[in-house]
Amino acid sequence: MFENIRAAVMGSINADMILQMPKVPEVGENLLGTQYSYACGGKGANQAIGLARLGAKTKMIGKVASDTNGHKLLQNLRENHVDVSGIGTQGSQTGLAVILLDADGKNRIVVYEGANAEIDPVQAASYITDETDVLLVQFETKEDAVVECVNRAVQKGITTVLDCGPAKAFALERMQGVTILSPNESETKALTGIFPENEQSILASCEILMQRSKATFVVLKLGERGCAVWDGKQMQLLPAYPAKTVDTTAAGDCFTAAMALEFVRSGKILTACDLGNKAGSIAVSRMGAASSMPTANELFAFGK
Ligand code: RIB
Repeated sequence: MFENIRAAVMGSINADMILQMPKVPEVGENLLGTQYSYACGGKGANQAIGLARLGAKTKMIGKVASDTNGHKLLQNLRENHVDVSGIGTQGSQTGLAVILLDADGKNRIVVYEGANAEIDPVQAASYITDETDVLLVQFETKEDAVVECVNRAVQKGITTVLDCGPAKAFALERMQGVTILSPNESETKALTGIFPENEQSILASCEILMQRSKATFVVLKLGERGCAVWDGKQMQLLPAYPAKTVDTTAAGDCFTAAMALEFVRSGKILTACDLGNKAGSIAVSRMGAASSMPTANELFAFGK
């Protein structure tokens, strides 16, 4: 279904250390975790693996260090059929995320950027060519690299999806005219000062986001409430699909990958977001980040 789509992702590549616990500790509190594990992550790499598992020809643009984690992460991307020729080796340590995961599958994440901070904006943008149908970018690399890649893609008329994670007050005005701007709830708050808790605040935040970015669509990821789609005239709320939540890590990355491909294929934003909701529900029912991305068969069998 998505085999003819040529996708590129510019973003972070991290080793994730996942520490499970009954609840996250309060300030000054010590408690015992139940288990820990290592996994492949990074918002950029998760989205690249999500796209590739769904069948798209996918190129990853980013940086790892020449260390054990860097080699493992590159190997994992290759095993998932991601073209790694846009990944350079630089810096002394590969990016690392420490993830505190509670019994409800909710997380707290702290990222050490490492090699992700070494991405050269001009070099990264040079991988975005006329052979690219869709570009996905997040905020987990330096602002200049994000801006350079997004602006090049927009200039070339490439469908550009900007996932606004992690939460930060990013200068959206430096990039005008992306196709889809997609923050989650905390990212919306960081960008607009408004937490999208009800229809009124959802609309108010979408209006600000669209006005600042001149995006064609704003898609708010609202966790277990699904997503909100704003095209500048109409607001649509699309409910999430019920899931047994094990780990919410990377559910947003999974949503973004599926939404982007379906949008390129059909040109229909609502169909695309509905598929994103299905993909997100699959991701929360699985442990880990990149490992929770579904294949196309799994996604299209969902709910049948
Ligand atoms: O979006 C989830 C990702 O955020 C994790 O894989 C972690 O690496 C952080 O970047």
